[in-house]
Amino acid sequence: QIAYLNGLYIPLAEAQISPQDRGFLFGDGVYEVIPVYNKTLFYFDEHLQRLKNSLAATGIANPLSDAQWTDILNTLIEKHSWQDQFIYLQVTRGVQMQRDHMPADCLSPTIYAYTNPLKSLTDDVLAKGVKVVTLEDIRWLRCDIKAITLLPNVMLKLAAKQQGADDAILISRDGYVAEGTASNAFIVKDGKLLTPPTSAKILPGITRLVIESIAKQHHIELIEKELTRDELEQADEIWLTSSTKEALPVTSINGKPVGDGKPGALWQTLRQHYQQHKQ
Ligand code: PDD
Repeated sequence: QIAYLNGLYIPLAEAQISPQDRGFLFGDGVYEVIPVYNKTLFYFDEHLQRLKNSLAATGIANPLSDAQWTDILNTLIEKHSWQDQFIYLQVTRGVQMQRDHMPADCLSPTIYAYTNPLKSLTDDVLAKGVKVVTLEDIRWLRCDIKAITLLPNVMLKLAAKQQGADDAILISRDGYVAEGTASNAFIVKDGKLLTPPTSAKILPGITRLVIESIAKQHHIELIEKELTRDELEQADEIWLTSSTKEALPVTSINGKPVGDGKPGALWQTLRQHYQQHKQ
């Protein structure tokens, strides 16, 4: 596996950064996860735009032009034989020898990217779906930034596991549904698709955009509105969406079945459209 680090392509196992990197010391950085189907970046412009938004919001200078980003990621893709991949890329504010919360002037961002095989969902997950619990969202108030500081997400994922679930759906301080620990949430009620509107409470998911586009194309009604925990628990279907999982059917919430406890009909339809959309 070959990684890109600060201008060089090197074996992943040999990639090294300074422990004084502000990403390591402060979690001072942002990232993206981009799916690749048939060696082609999927919704790349949207991912690049979100990266630029995250960099602008955190005041980290975008170190590369769009053309340079495109070239690096395509070079990584070509260096690996997998047809379907996912790219992880990260930009931190850079290396600073003096530990100080205040970033020094003139730091050069650390740029890192590598690619992984993208595995399709297992037959077991497709047949049975996943189990979730609802948990209070303990994250910060800028979840729209794709920041590398994922400690709360990791803690919430562990808490879900301790409760016998695969994942958690997070309930914001205002009592409304936010998103999964690494995904956006959708519900189906009476044939309509509903999802929370974008805000600082959630990451504006690119898969969420993909689904929006598919829904429009196939005349599936999609409503953006705040959802209560009751609406979530009483939904006919629940999906969790992300670049690595597409749309994942949730079949159990807080120990109770979602709908009839099997992946739902609209999810099946959406999944077929999604496969076509990838081509
Ligand atoms: N996570 N919300 C959160 C908190 C996420 O971490 C993610 C994705 C999403 C979905 O975004 P998208 O559809 O653009 O992947 C929503 C990635 C996959 C990760 O951290 O690995």
